[in-house]
Amino acid sequence: MLKPFHLRSSQAHMRLLDLAQTDGQRHLVDLFAEDPNRFESMHCEVPGLLYDWSKHRVTEDVLGALLALAEEAGWKAGRDAMFRGDTINQTEGRAVLHVAMRGELEDNFSVDGHQVMPGVLEVRDRMLDFAESIQKSKDITDVVNIGIGGSDLGPLMVTKGLRNHSSGPKTHFVSNVDGAHLESVLSGLNPQNTLFIVVSKTFTTQETMANALEAKSWLVEALGEEAVAHHFAAVSTNLASAQAFGIPGERIFGFEDWVGGRYSLWGPVGLAVACSIGAENFRALLSGARSMDQHFQQADGRFNMPLVAALIGLWYVEYLHFPTFAVLPYAQDLDRFPAYLQQADMESNGKSMGRDGKRIDHASGPVIWGEAGTNGQHAFYQLLHQGTTVHPADIIACIEPLSRFDQHHEKLLANAVAQAEAMMIGKSKEQVEREMMAIGASPEKITAIAPHRVFEGNRPTGFVLMDRLDPHALGQLIAWYEHRIFLQGLLWNVCSYDQWGVELGKQLAGQVLTEWGGGAVGEHDASTLALMQRMRCKELG
Ligand code: F6P
Repeated sequence: MLKPFHLRSSQAHMRLLDLAQTDGQRHLVDLFAEDPNRFESMHCEVPGLLYDWSKHRVTEDVLGALLALAEEAGWKAGRDAMFRGDTINQTEGRAVLHVAMRGELEDNFSVDGHQVMPGVLEVRDRMLDFAESIQKSKDITDVVNIGIGGSDLGPLMVTKGLRNHSSGPKTHFVSNVDGAHLESVLSGLNPQNTLFIVVSKTFTTQETMANALEAKSWLVEALGEEAVAHHFAAVSTNLASAQAFGIPGERIFGFEDWVGGRYSLWGPVGLAVACSIGAENFRALLSGARSMDQHFQQADGRFNMPLVAALIGLWYVEYLHFPTFAVLPYAQDLDRFPAYLQQADMESNGKSMGRDGKRIDHASGPVIWGEAGTNGQHAFYQLLHQGTTVHPADIIACIEPLSRFDQHHEKLLANAVAQAEAMMIGKSKEQVEREMMAIGASPEKITAIAPHRVFEGNRPTGFVLMDRLDPHALGQLIAWYEHRIFLQGLLWNVCSYDQWGVELGKQLAGQVLTEWGGGAVGEHDASTLALMQRMRCKELG
């Protein structure tokens, strides 16, 4: 178990409260003027990935106090407990060992004294052999991943992110229980050339099972029942249910319950990714993540990328009261990265109960949101620049172009770096007035309009600069965020690896369906009842 941590009773907390009123209010432009070497001292890197945190509203004193907070929380002991396979998912009584899914034999990961790497490697080899056979197959031109949440968002984001490394069949993803999702994918496919991968840790998730059964009917109608064994594969911890679905054992890839759904893309859940990019690239993705794991375990204090980023995120939520965090990839291929992170972060740390079973008396995770740049610039950046609330962001960019249109890339990078600068420096009233005067605006017009054209600036961003978006680098990037989430959960004293909050809605949807199926009508408020009646166009009960 991870030790409970009461942030608000800690020594560093008191110091941070003071610093929030002083250093936290300072303008970034002044901080750069005071210390022209700010970039030098406020960035860290691992090969291929640089994190510039100098445009964040932190000073050396703030960082020092945040690092002291992390020490008080026992971040190293917590980290080591995770890598040791301790039962840190305390409410489900499980270890949290997704790092083993990208590990190697010599890492010696174990759970309950049992070495897990031989089993992990055996399934990895089997799954990658299968992926290679699909890549080579002349018959399979399309792979459809059927899953939702962690069984969809990770593989989808990585497959899109590594578009340039795809050498296999076309990969599609169906997640929503809205039949329109399945229909729109199936409409372009030929059953003869399609492989469905049903991905579900539990193999009970309503959306996934509905889509899988419908896909099966579609296939059976065209090719007969015996085709199921050749056109379906499954990824699950529930082998019995996958087999009962009609999928032969050799096409089922299992994993253990110490891998959380939203942390599972590294193992067989990544099968669709492997079918798209091939075994070698998939192994490079894992090795990138593993190199970040090693960095997380070895790097000290301010040079530890997950630690620094996690602490800055906590500073904003807890001390400066900025409730959201935007992720803005200036890489179209990473356009699903914000959606992936929403689940990884918000399903992990969106909790209000502490590890000691008492309600926490502070905020926990921020709302994570975002969109690929430059599209976001023409949508919500107005609020980022001039709104009344501050929304810190990570801007992610890659030096190497992701398309053959080089000149587009220059523009893309120029926009990324310019946005970070604009958010920081803003534009003063004097500057606006000078500009308006230069174009001959009348004094009345200047008085009326200039205030609207002022940007306060001091909007913080972190800049994540990748040399290139390749499998290794993407593995590093994802693992970096995973460890940030772990550390924030540790400091916020929540249980990051359960998700009880999503259960109630599932339960009530089941109840509504039972009622619509003729079951006894339960208690509902007037609004819910009225809506249910409209949906069915008839009185219930
Ligand atoms: O949204 C709840 C959740 O349990 C997620 O944690 C999980 O990733 C998703 O549903 C899908 O679950 P499964 O892989 O078991 O179908």
